[in-house]
Amino acid sequence: MKCTPLIAGVLTAGLLLAAAQIASAAGQPFGKTADGQAVEVYTLKNENGMTVKLMTLGATITELHVPDRDGKFADVVLGFDAPAGYQSEDNQYFGCTTGRVCNRIAKGKFSLDGKDYTLAINNEPNHLHGGAKRSLDKVIWKAKEFQTKTGRGVRFSYTSPDGEEGYPGTLKVVVNFSLNNKNNSLRIAYRAETDKATPVNLTNHAYFNLAGAGSDSVLDHQLTINADRYTPTDDTLIPTGKIAPVDGTLLDFRKAKKIGARIKKLDDQATIGYDHNYVLNRKDAQDDALVFAARLRDPQSGRTLGIRTTEPGIQFYSGNFLKGQQGKAGKTYAHRSAVCLETQHYPDSINHPEFPTTVLKPGDVYQSVTNLFFSAR
Ligand code: GAL
Repeated sequence: MKCTPLIAGVLTAGLLLAAAQIASAAGQPFGKTADGQAVEVYTLKNENGMTVKLMTLGATITELHVPDRDGKFADVVLGFDAPAGYQSEDNQYFGCTTGRVCNRIAKGKFSLDGKDYTLAINNEPNHLHGGAKRSLDKVIWKAKEFQTKTGRGVRFSYTSPDGEEGYPGTLKVVVNFSLNNKNNSLRIAYRAETDKATPVNLTNHAYFNLAGAGSDSVLDHQLTINADRYTPTDDTLIPTGKIAPVDGTLLDFRKAKKIGARIKKLDDQATIGYDHNYVLNRKDAQDDALVFAARLRDPQSGRTLGIRTTEPGIQFYSGNFLKGQQGKAGKTYAHRSAVCLETQHYPDSINHPEFPTTVLKPGDVYQSVTNLFFSAR
């Protein structure tokens, strides 16, 4: 066939369009941020029907559908139907990637290599979850689907400029979410590199209710935490530096217990319920070894979440600040209707040289992996 300039032009345009469609095939529009940036959502589904949705705003898990013991699916994480919800006062870090430093930094201050740094105080009198405006949950990440040996994943990447939210160094962050095709497991792997020494502590802030997001309460769920010890805090939830045994305290979850069994006794504490960092039992495990951290089970549906991590700690937060806000599909998220189990280095580690370090140096690579395994029994 003779290719006229017109046909060639049409063919080229068609090929470019097809290529663009392949490149962006997986990301679907999920609305816009208040300042007009497009947000996309990626869907991963495995052979069993387990489905995870992830959006580019905050590298956030927006939906996570898993079966109960009769094969009935429910979305077990809190979230909103559109970016506006995630950008509203009602969003309490639902499902997001949290950082550069998750949890609290005392009075928003730290010193590193002889320099003093001041961060936003967004949780009086402390700095919380990486800051007020440009923390990792509030920015748009680049996303790309990838194939693994055992399933598919979405890779999120973001470069945080030097000085963003007051932190030193240009930080390149990658978070890979991969869904196993056969086991109902979601692997979250973090990687970061910097050009100046800087603290890094990354986690995912999913709120779980295994009876389905929007169920009234999570207090009947049974919880096991593989920790003999925890980090006691002052009244502003900053660790004192002590590491104390859970034995004989309301915090002992070494054997499965109902979350609600003793929670009332914590009502008038500074934490207003459970909001504690547990020191995971890692025995002689290597730093990069995945170790059993926690198990959450809803006895009604049988849905069970098992968590394994390379991290030394886990924050058990019992949704004490949930206030009945309206989330996905008009559901309301009542006080203590979901829990967060945030794998992490201990809070305020940058001001506690006795804790495992959160300082990332140029030339080193920050790596952290957490696996979420879902089953039903
Ligand atoms: C948790 C933290 C709580 C609270 C919550 C967000 O990670 O431990 O104290 O700040 O995030 O509302």
